[in-house]
Amino acid sequence: MAKLGLNVDHVATVRQARGGMEPDPVAAAAIGELAGAEGITIHLREDRRHIQDRDLELLRRTVKTKLNLEMAATQEMVRIALGVRPEQVTLVPEKRQELTTEGGLDVILNLKAISDAVKRLRDGGICVSLFVDPDQEQVKAASKSGADYIEIHTGAYAEAFGASNMSHELEKIDTAIKLARKVGLGINAGHGLNYVNIKPVAALGGIEEYNIGHSIISRAVLVGLDRAVRDMVELIKYA
Ligand code: PXP
Repeated sequence: MAKLGLNVDHVATVRQARGGMEPDPVAAAAIGELAGAEGITIHLREDRRHIQDRDLELLRRTVKTKLNLEMAATQEMVRIALGVRPEQVTLVPEKRQELTTEGGLDVILNLKAISDAVKRLRDGGICVSLFVDPDQEQVKAASKSGADYIEIHTGAYAEAFGASNMSHELEKIDTAIKLARKVGLGINAGHGLNYVNIKPVAALGGIEEYNIGHSIISRAVLVGLDRAVRDMVELIKYA
């Protein structure tokens, strides 16, 4: 059965907008687990724009399912991961100016540096996944790097316009799944997946874990707003 890894970065983004204490991604993670998420994903970025070191440390102590830390393959991040020991690290490319992770890792170009990071993390007992585009050469390079898993970047599929572009991108994902299986890599997927576009991907089979953030937190804001407004109206009216 495929699993949901809930990405709580956006909860931290809202908190950082005021620099205060709420909403707390640690509380969001606990609610997510109670609701059935089987993993919690966070991206500790070099600029700490949303998730903070404090979140990582607390989540390490509170997550009961599986903590998946997305991070760049830098010395600083590898050191932090080895100290905190999440169950899984997903290595992602990181550019300071980007709004979100824009593309998969270029494992072919950075094979040596990525393989070194994979080895250090695996030696520390951490399962390592590489975030890659559904590209056969990148999947082969991921296999050479010694990683345990790939996370297939579903962004191009999510952004494809029209049925034929979507099915073309879906085919690439399917080919990547088949190749990853053949070379013995575990398979996760994520980026841009929502309540509509998840179905055809899930129907492909072979994906173990979906890491989803934006669409779930967006829906939470809308489905939770009714209750939140009612609670405040009641306090104001009946004080
Ligand atoms: N997987 C990776 C590697 C990511 O960088 C992100 C975005 O932080 C996600 C999954 C989740 O993407 P989304 O927020 O679009 O669901």
